[in-house]
Amino acid sequence: MGAITFYEQDRIFKLDTPNSSYVIGIVDEENFVGHVYYGKKLRDYRIGYLLRTKEGPFVPSENNRDRTSFLDSFPMEYPGNGVGDYRRSSIAVKTAGGHVAVSLSYVSHRIYPGKPMLPGLPATFGAEKECETLELLCEDKVLGLQVVLLYTVFLDVDVIARSVRVVNQGEPLYLTKVLSANLDMDNKDFELLTLHGSWARERMMQWRKVGKGFCGLESVRGETSHQDHPFMALKAGDATQTNGEVYGMHFVYSGNFLAQVELNQHDVIRAAMGIHPENFCWKLEKGEEFQTPEVVLVYTNGGMDDMTHQFHELYRNHLIRGEYKNKKRPILINNWEATYFDFDTEKLLSIAKKAAELGIEMLVMDDGWFGHRNDDNTSLGDWFVNENKIKGGLKYLVDEVNKLGMKFGIWFEPEMISPDSELYKAHPDWAIRVPNRTPSLCRNQYVLDLTRKEVRDYAYECVAKILRSANIEYVKWDMNRQLSDIGSMELPADRQGELYHRYVLGLYEMQERLVTEFPHLLLENCSGGGARFDPGMLYYSPQIWCSDDTDAVERLKIQEGTALIYPLSTMGAHVSDCPNHTVGRVTPFETRGHVALAGTFGYELDITKIPEEDKKLIPEQVAMYHKYNDLVREGDYYRIASYQENHYFDCYEVVSKDKNEALITFVQVLNRPNYRSRRICLKGLDPEKNYRIEGEKEIYAGDTLLYAGIQIANLWGDFQSKLLHIVSC
Ligand code: GLA
Repeated sequence: MGAITFYEQDRIFKLDTPNSSYVIGIVDEENFVGHVYYGKKLRDYRIGYLLRTKEGPFVPSENNRDRTSFLDSFPMEYPGNGVGDYRRSSIAVKTAGGHVAVSLSYVSHRIYPGKPMLPGLPATFGAEKECETLELLCEDKVLGLQVVLLYTVFLDVDVIARSVRVVNQGEPLYLTKVLSANLDMDNKDFELLTLHGSWARERMMQWRKVGKGFCGLESVRGETSHQDHPFMALKAGDATQTNGEVYGMHFVYSGNFLAQVELNQHDVIRAAMGIHPENFCWKLEKGEEFQTPEVVLVYTNGGMDDMTHQFHELYRNHLIRGEYKNKKRPILINNWEATYFDFDTEKLLSIAKKAAELGIEMLVMDDGWFGHRNDDNTSLGDWFVNENKIKGGLKYLVDEVNKLGMKFGIWFEPEMISPDSELYKAHPDWAIRVPNRTPSLCRNQYVLDLTRKEVRDYAYECVAKILRSANIEYVKWDMNRQLSDIGSMELPADRQGELYHRYVLGLYEMQERLVTEFPHLLLENCSGGGARFDPGMLYYSPQIWCSDDTDAVERLKIQEGTALIYPLSTMGAHVSDCPNHTVGRVTPFETRGHVALAGTFGYELDITKIPEEDKKLIPEQVAMYHKYNDLVREGDYYRIASYQENHYFDCYEVVSKDKNEALITFVQVLNRPNYRSRRICLKGLDPEKNYRIEGEKEIYAGDTLLYAGIQIANLWGDFQSKLLHIVSC
């Protein structure tokens, strides 16, 4: 296959994706593993000189008196700890003697077609002809610790997936830090792009210049979080949206993470990502292993647009699984913003009836159908249907909805326990907490200790029993608080430091069980909106609720930050009622529909109560969804203008793979007086083809649309929008 080659004489590994090369060199008598190059694809491998081992008189085998000078500047593939590299380490331990040092040397390697599964973890995948893997076995002889660096090179996308497996062959020790990937590279005037937010405003883009010192982002909340996202991109100073070098790093994980960049004295950066070491301490007995989650690396010379395309292709083809991977999703109507907790069978059926008439395909019953949950203070854990509300029982409701020609979906929050619940009365020790300390409540609930098998089994069976009881075709799996008071009543003292990661492993195990037992189920993950929108969850659910903020204008920003790395098919997006429940803004129903079309598309409103003129638009929007969804799901997404940057308007485009069709969404957020039209240059079309805008007679040459552009006339008012469908002719 030849995507990965070892040049024995030069002790060089060369890893090639379609357009990038990654080069690793083994140096010195100590067999240090050095990072030589990551960038545009190279023909030649003979670039070991870039490791600068001959520059200074510092190579340990030649001048051991200045060994720290070598270690502190050598570009390490996976830096050890505490022996003279004063930059941030990737791995650290605590031995029985209390020592923290780790120093790794190359021992051997394996190159093979395909990609191994990572036990218990979500990960990208590929068949033997789609990717190739390098395993570099390194060792710390003093500790008897083996560290296997895994690199999988994809042949159809410019992606390298990296993870680390640690095997303890020595005395028992604790791993106190084990990141998944590290990149030491010369600075290229890098700017760092990261995503930050809060509840209802997730994944806002932030740029900053990489300066001397250290910067980064993280979650220590036990989940990915609303606040920071486990992604970063380094853009070379001269790169743009459409050109130039960009390095993207994204963590396929759903728990605590650390993403860090350091610029050192020699103007070399160190970028690293992995499980956050804070409160992490994993015991490794002799013979035990630890596998890290993976980081996916993208390199492109095609600017931000191409970075986005590489991530989209990777996730569409090598991460998302199941029946809905390449399938149009049913248009749903969710009752959360319609009724909150105040609903019963009759109310739900009245919504379903109207929705079915207008072409909506699935009713989702949200929070409040179980225990005695009439507000958010109670009953999590008691997953028994409340027949005072769901009169006639759940099966009756589902059957009635099915009779209307609609599918039925349901909401769960399986990881939680309310203090006011039968479950808590029976098993107070199932909540995560520290003995003798009153645990902190959040939304009046605690988190179940998913490190315990009996707890996972209980929570899973609650969900499964309900799904087995009726024809339920969709689940929204929610998680509405973050972890605190980290303590398990079951883990021994020397394994309490494993709780955060074991929690995430427990969650993955439960979701794997769910998609295995119910292979036809459409699963949508959610966490107080979009706090667990991450590639880890995408392995189990092909779509994730993007944000509790459904305001069309706020969504432009949230969806821009999300679509930067995630395919549009993954973004849960609904049309909701106005004034918007989060920001009180009133936007046209049409604009709300246009913005939601960029995601999974659905409704979240009381369809029996909304104004007649809005209702009338629904069949039109339903038709648009059916007309454009294949294109939106499968096409290439391009950013044309960002409201976040220009404060006036937003524009994005999706182009079909064969370049015969494109959909342009233009939203004029704020109108300006005497501003007659805007010129928009399209992207991704074939310059040699001719195109027409649907509904117009004019024929445009592809290159005209790309380089000269079209004029979009000023729309009257704020929050107005327009869709343009371009077809080749
Ligand atoms: C979270 C979700 C919402 C809704 C509520 C129910 O906030 O993001 O969509 O399901 O929980 O409590």
